Amino acid sequence: MITQDIFSDENAYVKRSNQVSATTGAWLNEKISEILTHRGLEHPFLNQYAKLGLPESKSRLLYLETLHYFKHLPFYVCAISTLTRDENILRAICFNARDELGENRSHADLYLDFLFKKGISPDVVSAYQCLPSTKALNDGICALYSTPPLQKALGALFADETMSAAMVAKYNAGLIKEGLNEADRRFWTLHMEVEVGHSNAIFNIIQPHLQTPEELNDFSEGIDQYMHLMEMFWNGVDTFINKIRN
Ligand SMILES: [Fe+2]
Repeated sequence: MITQDIFSDENAYVKRSNQVSATTGAWLNEKISEILTHRGLEHPFLNQYAKLGLPESKSRLLYLETLHYFKHLPFYVCAISTLTRDENILRAICFNARDELGENRSHADLYLDFLFKKGISPDVVSAYQCLPSTKALNDGICALYSTPPLQKALGALFADETMSAAMVAKYNAGLIKEGLNEADRRFWTLHMEVEVGHSNAIFNIIQPHLQTPEELNDFSEGIDQYMHLMEMFWNGVDTFINKIRN
């Protein structure tokens, strides 16, 4: 389980910098608590999935929807760099996006391998039309990451990485229930570690941009909007999948 403490662990994939002041650190920790308890992550559908998994036909739909949620995210993350001339931000964004892209094969490619192993054919993957709520999530993230103010975009990215660390742990738990072995869950276990580091990469560079009440407010607004989009995504998946009989 991903808890608040994991982010300040000495062995985190990206360690927290001790250059961040106690005040900013405490404020960001509070934001992490809000993210980890938001219904966009603590969603009944996702929690139920972590506890019980799903029958195979429903599980396939969940993972097809998930592909449409995240497949273009590295492009959107890079768009944040156009909102600033702060090289530290550019460095953190490039680092996170580069991880998602991999040396030769992106995480989206690895995810396709995971779908094929789950028995979903390439034809089904390419013909699949996602739910409007999933498209709204994807489009909403694109808009959040490419529109000023910078603080709002970075708040959304901070929510994205922080939330994702805990969300992938729930997917992984559901897949264990569905009987997948460790090798077939590698995509998910890898992300459980990496996303904590990605959240810390943002934690480490954000302080100079969180100096005024307006800046703090914009950052919080980005978090809230991102988590709202996630909540709508899960509501959509919940209604859709529970409508179908086993
Ligand atoms: Fe990430």
